[in-house]
Amino acid sequence: PDQYAVMGNPIAHSKSPRIHRQFAEQTGQQIEYRALRVDEGDFEQALEHFFKQGKGLNITVPFKQRAWQLSGRLSERAQLAGAVNTLWMEGGVLVGDNTDGCGLVTDLVQNQRLLINAKRVLLLGAGGAARGVLQPLLAEGPAKLVVANRTLARAQELVELFSPFGVVEASSFEALRGAFDLIINATSASLEGEVPPLPPGVVAGHTHCYDMMYGAEPTAFNRWAKSKGAKDCIDGLGMLVEQAAEAFYLWRGVRPDTQPVLAALRAEMG
Ligand code: ATR
Repeated sequence: PDQYAVMGNPIAHSKSPRIHRQFAEQTGQQIEYRALRVDEGDFEQALEHFFKQGKGLNITVPFKQRAWQLSGRLSERAQLAGAVNTLWMEGGVLVGDNTDGCGLVTDLVQNQRLLINAKRVLLLGAGGAARGVLQPLLAEGPAKLVVANRTLARAQELVELFSPFGVVEASSFEALRGAFDLIINATSASLEGEVPPLPPGVVAGHTHCYDMMYGAEPTAFNRWAKSKGAKDCIDGLGMLVEQAAEAFYLWRGVRPDTQPVLAALRAEMG
């Protein structure tokens, strides 16, 4: 069977092997998919070694930016994202793509039935996770997308980069005013159990909140959003499965059904 893998560090808890094996079973594709832990200094060598035999790779923390640098060709969305999560070889050239933003939008629009078009959207964070989803979000045509970050200058840099793609503004957390229709948390604050200090009023009864993180328990951000009366609080498990489905499609030319895979993961997490 064709060989696939995800590379990262840490990687032991990655759900990608289970997701891709279920996609393969469902679509009758003969593939093997493994998780490979790579030491910080060994990434380039590990890539080279893998592609002597392997067909495709997913890349996760902390190697997405390095994969971007090492790609011989980048899709437009990967170019803009500044990060690569999906790799394959084409005519001897290493091709890099990024399916994270597409995964987020698919989860929002198809799974959650949440329209972004003409909505007021707040994106929290200005690191790699935020940058990776900006163009696909703007392509949905929000009325306005505000990027708010603890370090305002980083939000301003992203806004400069993405303003050709839609109506996008930078803000500090404290300068935010008015309620948003959709708030997406792309900060890593939830990892530390923290929530960005947002002024009261950004969440109203009609506000949908989405944390790109996920876990067995609701994330700190989603607990906070619920306490503020948000309409709903969604975690990033759907985004994880949808970015994987898009990678599977790029490699195999077949679109898996994500619903049973998402339901199985959700059930496992309890
Ligand atoms: P990632 O690839 O996950 O985006 P990153 O590039 O290190 O990682 O970015 C982390 C993001 O989370 C940044 O927007 C960071 O804010 P700063 O740019 O001001 O550092 C944000 N972040 C991390 N911890 C945070 C916290 N406790 N409160 C608010 N924002 C936080």
